Amino acid sequence: MKTIGIVTSGGDAPGMNAAIRAITRIAQSKDMNVIGFEKGWEGVLTNKHRHLTTRSVGGIIQLGGTILHTSRSLDFKKNECLEQAADNLNTLGVEGLVVIGGDGSFRAAMDLSKISKALMVGIPATIDNDVYGTDETIGFDTAVNTAVAEIDKIRDTAISHERIFIVEVMGRTRGFLAITVGISVGAEVILVPEDKCKMDHVVSIVKENARKGKRAGIIVAAEGCGNINDIAREIEEKTGSEVRLSILGYAQRGGSPTARSRLLASLFAEKAVDLLCQGKGNMVAVFQNGIVTAAELEKVSCGTKSLDFNLMKLAETLAT
Ligand code: F6P
Repeated sequence: MKTIGIVTSGGDAPGMNAAIRAITRIAQSKDMNVIGFEKGWEGVLTNKHRHLTTRSVGGIIQLGGTILHTSRSLDFKKNECLEQAADNLNTLGVEGLVVIGGDGSFRAAMDLSKISKALMVGIPATIDNDVYGTDETIGFDTAVNTAVAEIDKIRDTAISHERIFIVEVMGRTRGFLAITVGISVGAEVILVPEDKCKMDHVVSIVKENARKGKRAGIIVAAEGCGNINDIAREIEEKTGSEVRLSILGYAQRGGSPTARSRLLASLFAEKAVDLLCQGKGNMVAVFQNGIVTAAELEKVSCGTKSLDFNLMKLAETLAT
């Protein structure tokens, strides 16, 4: 294999640059050319790209975001776009494409693989950690630590004013970020999109804690849980506690990647280049039970990762 491509697609995640750097340096150590496509799948479609070398990826391991930029390219669902992308890859002589992103990016890779000669290999990267087949995605550890640091500060003022804070974290459809952050900050309640908010249960926890003299509290809610303002108002009305809101937002998507995110990115990159060198396409580098291995792209892109609800119960027990 002489030329490979890299694309970063979907929501950016801290550690994407570490992956770009590692893919490039490993490939160049094997005398392979590396082409980086700009702005996700859009760059493959419009042929916007740049050559990457060992030197051009220097000084980026510590940077959040992606030097190749990204996009959520919906055009890729149209056949003519897939054909144009396949032509571009063929013209450039790209024999293997490393797709760094989440399940949506992998579904696009699956579609392209049906008409392109280029081998597709995925690297899971999203702060949501919601990619089927891998225990962890690039960026998840960084987003968890960013949220934990912010919520530890919020707990200070919650205690000073004896208030309940509902803190919204990212996760439009899945609660992996919320549940991990919730346990890590000692949240009294965790709300996730997979388990619609049982208001009576939340109210009973807040009231029971107040009865025991614990008037301050943190409720961690994934953004996909519903209208956070309505939830806050209802808790305030039904418990008589002072409730305040804090939305962490896009800070969770940025920042310098943690060592864990950088290491995971580098190990995924090594696996991805190895798969391409072995001629194994339609695969994803994944992290399972402490080791980096590979899973089928079709299964990863179409599977649904389930939440461990026991962790919700554990969180409530730990916060009594
Ligand atoms: O997929 C990662 C993510 O940050 C989700 O947690 C969030 O809901 C979504 O992206 C936001 O999408 P956008 O960046 O397009 O606003």
